[in-house]
Amino acid sequence: MSDSSRYSGISTINHWITALLVVTMLALGLAAGAAPSDAIEDYVLGIHISLGFFVLIFVIWRVLFRLYEGFPANVGRTAYERWAAYFVHRAILVLLVVQVLTGPLYLFTEDECIGVFGWFSVCLPLASLSIIHEAMESIHVYSGVYLLPALLILHIAGGIVHYLIGAPRHTPADM
Ligand code: HEM
Ligand code: HEM
Repeated sequence: MSDSSRYSGISTINHWITALLVVTMLALGLAAGAAPSDAIEDYVLGIHISLGFFVLIFVIWRVLFRLYEGFPANVGRTAYERWAAYFVHRAILVLLVVQVLTGPLYLFTEDECIGVFGWFSVCLPLASLSIIHEAMESIHVYSGVYLLPALLILHIAGGIVHYLIGAPRHTPADM
């Protein structure tokens, strides 16, 4: 782990690619949940799952890179703000890992594969773990619909406050 007080260039690229991918995944997941018919739900979910394959790879890379590089000291002006940023950043990363693992596990434990835009499929024969199937679905949906959006709202609101008040070290421009 490095002890840098700034995010590296790779971290910045990782941050914004993940932000784009995750907001897209949230939009697709929520749109599937609110679809007016089963056919539309299946279609939107198909895109969510296909893109999800690449999001899975990217999130794992991004989290491993963060573990390798470490977290620079964050920008809060008070101990409370620093603690909030510390908690929210780690919680977002944990929830992203939860999302990209529970999504595929939900499919595999039902004997389904990750179909990727009709190009190829990724299968793992885990039907014997069907006992965890519903738990995977509940965790994925609850975290995707409530927990992750709530943390991202807190994170973005914190960023806006820092931008308006003037952060001592990092600004959104750093990320
Ligand atoms: C950061 C990544 C992800 C986010 C934010 C996310 C978010 C969501 C959300 C919000 C839903 C909505 C559920 C609803 O309203 O019913 C959902 C459903 C679903 N997601 Fe994801 N997801 C992610 C990754 C994945 C991955 C990697 C896969 C599989 C490759 C996947 C497979 C599914 C499936 C199969 C459902 C439907 C579950 C059901 O039928 O109840 N997701 N996701
Ligand atoms: C308008 C949108 C966003 C802005 C302005 C923004 C800004 C920032 C800034 C300035 C930091 C550094 C904070 C510090 O040094 O204390 C940061 C860190 C972080 N952000 Fe965001 N962010 C945004 C969206 C997102 C989204 C959508 C995600 C998740 C998908 C995310 C996940 C993270 C994480 C996990 C960190 C901790 C460091 C890291 O591992 O990259 N951010 N963000």
